[in-house]
Amino acid sequence: MAGVAKQNILLGVTGGISAYKSVELARLLLKAGASVRVVMTEAAGRFVSPLTFQAVTGNPVRTALFDEKHEAAMGHIELARWADRMLIAPASADFMARMAQGVANDLLSTVYLACPSPVAIAPAMNTNMWQHPAVQHNLSVLEGRGVRVLGPASGEQACGDKGFGRMLEPMEILATLKKELQSMPFASKKVLVTAGPTHEAIDPVRFIGNRSSGKMGYALARAFQEKGADVLLVSGPVSLASPPGVERIEVQTALQMYEAVFENIHAVDIFAGCAAVADYRPEHASEQKIKKSADKMDITLVRNPDILAEVAALEDGPFTLGFAAETEKLIENARAKLQAKQLDMLAANRVGEGMGFERDENSLRVIWSAGEEQLPVQDKQLLAEALVDLLANRYQANE
Ligand code: PMT
Repeated sequence: MAGVAKQNILLGVTGGISAYKSVELARLLLKAGASVRVVMTEAAGRFVSPLTFQAVTGNPVRTALFDEKHEAAMGHIELARWADRMLIAPASADFMARMAQGVANDLLSTVYLACPSPVAIAPAMNTNMWQHPAVQHNLSVLEGRGVRVLGPASGEQACGDKGFGRMLEPMEILATLKKELQSMPFASKKVLVTAGPTHEAIDPVRFIGNRSSGKMGYALARAFQEKGADVLLVSGPVSLASPPGVERIEVQTALQMYEAVFENIHAVDIFAGCAAVADYRPEHASEQKIKKSADKMDITLVRNPDILAEVAALEDGPFTLGFAAETEKLIENARAKLQAKQLDMLAANRVGEGMGFERDENSLRVIWSAGEEQLPVQDKQLLAEALVDLLANRYQANE
């Protein structure tokens, strides 16, 4: 199980009296085994000297975006990529507003936008500021994008006011982080999920498709992301919003999905093929809308590549989770697919009238070479979470 140890933590410090507490936070993170690099805003430097953080972490502290010496050593984009997790403590009202608006006018706000890893903030400000609708609005925007908010605590403030707005104590922040990381078996893992249907063009207005809504695949992407994974979703045409913190590539056809998967597969630890990929496509898609003339018409179909089977056949490839959509002989057919495609795990579901596709609920029979488990009918998000927990056990056993 992952913990704080061996994590690369980028500690962002913004302007506020509690910036001094972040020195202790940096020390505690290091003691817990993390590597810590600090980026400070200009305002933070008015409360604590960068040298203090440098002395504690042993690493140079970055404050300016246009700093040739530091950029030559580790550019700001590299710094953003280096981080397994970004923690902004204290997070001032001003900095939260800049995060919410996507303003990149200093080093820390730029690194935040460039950072693909999970981000947590520990807000700290006067209690009236904290309660202001503008701050609360920014807070909900950030939470909606998957930013984890730690605190603030309630109590007496440096200004003498009482109420919510005090930064959590460094020990409390560390304890929350440790707890979260322990329940994050996929921290620093890259997961690629395919979802939705594919549309195979017959002519510019018609296609061969299927009933997949993408709900199951999107729920799976969200579940992996919430367990710490860096998730790439390759999605067929659906009308769903991307889960917070998940990167999405949109495709229409099986061939486009194949290309998107194989352009990205090299860096992937886990591949989950939930898309209902068309097995066949029309051999020729007409450039113009086909007119009705003859009473009968034939469309020749040719096989699409099997994305899942090709991923599973890769040398040193990722852990592979396949799905099987079956209308009959669920277990028998699913076991045959598991073996034929040499998968690590397979989630089988019954599909047909009112089952599997489109609905908000589903059930899965999850099988692997030496075992199986039934996940009962439930909301697809809860089902995806249960599936991801099962997969975590198998993945760790494989490792
Ligand atoms: O999207 P929803 O409405 O929420 O519905 C969810 C679902 C029913 C689509 C989902 O739970 C599901 O079963 N997805 C897989 C559908 C499917 O295509 O099953 P299959 O048995 O035909 O394919 C087996 C596996 O091979 C799947 O993992 C599929 O992604 C993969 N495959 C299939 C064909 C192909 N050319 N390339 C593939 O990668």
